[in-house]
Amino acid sequence: MNWKDTPKTELHLHLEGAAPPAFIRQLAQEKSVSMDGVFDRNGDYQWADFLAFLATYEAACEVLKSPGDYQRLVAAVLEKSAQTGVVYTEISVCPDFCGGGDLGAWREYFDAMCQAADASPVETRFTVTAVRHFGPEQARITSAVAAQTAGHMLTGFGMGGDENFMNPADFAYAFDQAREAGLGLTSHAGEIAGPQSVIDTLDHLKVSRIGHGVRSIEDPALLARLADQGIVLEVNPGSNVALSVYPDWPSHPINALRDAGVKLSVSTDDPPYFHTDMVAEYDHLHRIHGWGASDFAASNRIAMQAAFCDEPTRTRLLTTFQEP
Ligand code: HPA
Ligand code: ZN
Repeated sequence: MNWKDTPKTELHLHLEGAAPPAFIRQLAQEKSVSMDGVFDRNGDYQWADFLAFLATYEAACEVLKSPGDYQRLVAAVLEKSAQTGVVYTEISVCPDFCGGGDLGAWREYFDAMCQAADASPVETRFTVTAVRHFGPEQARITSAVAAQTAGHMLTGFGMGGDENFMNPADFAYAFDQAREAGLGLTSHAGEIAGPQSVIDTLDHLKVSRIGHGVRSIEDPALLARLADQGIVLEVNPGSNVALSVYPDWPSHPINALRDAGVKLSVSTDDPPYFHTDMVAEYDHLHRIHGWGASDFAASNRIAMQAAFCDEPTRTRLLTTFQEP
């Protein structure tokens, strides 16, 4: 079975983390920026563990310096999305890399990204993401920038980065500010850290979705809470295996989470870093976890129901994911 043409939604995709290595190398060459340590001998991104991954990620972002660079990047990322059957995507982007949190600069960068998204057949929304290890004060600045440009294609706010840095409660102000601006909320949790991280995120950040959340499987009471509240997990199995959250694909708890009544969707996170794409994720889920067309349609419907988009778009796209 080839899943390439199966229509897909993707709720969890980092713009900078989706940059093809060749794209970053090309920009580095154009700008004469050194990329020492970013690539391995094969030209792939080089990293050994989660913190090294974050460091390489930030080093690669050094070449993304102008609105034009971001326009090209969004175009390249959406081209890959379209090739892999994605019809609706939410791309997270970090304003810290787009003018350091300056509102005027961010507007220019974001306009350029929207131009590329407008030109793509993939229905696209953007979520602004704060980087946890940049701290609560920077997260406030990031969410203020998001709040002031909310609407149109900017529909969500989230947080990634080092999950062990400080506590979700420290970031409550940033999330309150984004919520008041009408943005949908998601945050990474239960990926590197255990279930308490998910509990604290739900309690203090009041998100409707969790990025990853897979380690909720370690706490039955939390699973019941997730199911009860209808919280949607943005599950990225290939990322979890690449980052050694689980030793291999068969150990991934995606079916156990689903069997516990937890709503979940499937995404790629930072595909070139983890040597994956949406077709590979579907292929592994089919071969290793027994997913078939109706399972994919169901997870895509869950994703569309949880998507940070307007109702006409949701209604239109939900019809794409009928039971086969
Ligand atoms: N986890 C946390 N932060 C991130 C990730 C991730 O998988 N990808 C990009 N930023
Ligand atoms: Zn992520």
